[in-house]
Amino acid sequence: MAQLWGGRFTKETDRKVYDFNASISFDKRLLDVDIKGSKAHVTMLAKCGIITEDECSSIIAGLDDILNDVKAGKLTVSSEYEDVHSFVEANLIDRIGDAGKKLHTGRSRNDQVALDMRLYTRDNITAVKENIIALLAELLQLIKDNTDTVMPGFTHLQKAQPVTLSHHLAAYFEMFRRDFGRLSDIYERMNYCPLGAGALAGTTFPLDRDMVAEELGFKAPCANSMDAVSDRDYLLEYLGALSIVMMHLSRFSEELIIWNSNEYRFVNIDDSFATGSSIMPQKKNPDIAELTRGKTGRVYGDLMALLTTMKALPLAYNKDMQEDKEAAFDAMDTAASCLELFAGMISTMTFNKDVMKDSAAKGFTNATDAADYLVGKGVPFRDAHGIIGQVVIYCDTNHKSIEECTLAELKAVSGYFDEDVYDAISLKACVDNRITKGAPSSKAMEEYIKEAEQWMRDYR
Ligand code: ARG
Repeated sequence: MAQLWGGRFTKETDRKVYDFNASISFDKRLLDVDIKGSKAHVTMLAKCGIITEDECSSIIAGLDDILNDVKAGKLTVSSEYEDVHSFVEANLIDRIGDAGKKLHTGRSRNDQVALDMRLYTRDNITAVKENIIALLAELLQLIKDNTDTVMPGFTHLQKAQPVTLSHHLAAYFEMFRRDFGRLSDIYERMNYCPLGAGALAGTTFPLDRDMVAEELGFKAPCANSMDAVSDRDYLLEYLGALSIVMMHLSRFSEELIIWNSNEYRFVNIDDSFATGSSIMPQKKNPDIAELTRGKTGRVYGDLMALLTTMKALPLAYNKDMQEDKEAAFDAMDTAASCLELFAGMISTMTFNKDVMKDSAAKGFTNATDAADYLVGKGVPFRDAHGIIGQVVIYCDTNHKSIEECTLAELKAVSGYFDEDVYDAISLKACVDNRITKGAPSSKAMEEYIKEAEQWMRDYR
């Protein structure tokens, strides 16, 4: 049990207390950023004349050695230390002696861990943004390949109007594009450096906080030292944004599961992304989509856990906040792996275009177009709606679609029908005539694709 704070104590910590209090099992993943932050801190201490240049060089060399040794497997971050910060400091002192004892000058673990979490989160946001871009790239390819793959669009999970697969997938492209934007916004808002806040009230050493902030790529130091050590808003925002990412993936998963069902057969999930049953030989299950849908609950749980932890915490640092890590790391890992697997799954799946088209042709998906046709003949829309309603009842009883009715049958409902009705309500016309911006016609989709391609080139 190696502790940084033994001086004031006359007894050993109870072993169970020690274990309960320790965070090293999960904060060891902060090692890289902890060392990065410490290097910036001591560089600044030397520049400000608080430690000597020699002490600074020896601390930096020692920190680099620790990191290299851990990476090379020569040193393990072991549970004999309370947390990653204690591990680094104790190891540094072992290696370089007295100079190592100066590392923590003008710093507290409170601003240190606040810095580490921000550095780690910043990197994670950047990585998840790349995961989103990779998914968007796969989506855009599918969008480009399927501008004429007609399928039914649904409301209430009932067939509504024909769309194309391209158009349907573009809805997801929009969702993930917003996710990307949300992550960029969060990054901007969180990009302030807490180091120099000390335990809560700054420090008596003449630290140059601007220098450290700049060195570590932050916009500026956090403006208030108490806020700096007690703020976890950026994690809440990030887990909120990841929850929305997961919600989008979960909706997409749900659709793929439905489309992959024996009843729909719109999509075939590639064997490499599906799993079998131990008893039913015929089974090929969409487990990746189902797990993604399931893991959404886990990320929401992480968000709720952290929100609840932060609720009613008095200023400034409280040990409750150590609980931020497992929730945050779990949400980050879960979202990243789901995004990655999803990109692979959608790029390998295939679509049963004929089945989709047949499905679009059934279920009166052209009923709105038939009403619009009558509007073109001078019938007010509300009346046209009523007329087509009657046609649908007739078709239902006679087991046919609108276009399977003879002109005489249609005329029996309304004299406004003419020979040109069949062209007007064909599946092709139903899609092609939807030319408004954002609609499914190939013309509108061409515009959409152009803009989306431009965005993919410019987003950085
Ligand atoms: N492991 C701690 C955490 O994650 C580090 C900060 C400890 N600070 C303290 N005052 N005990 O929050």
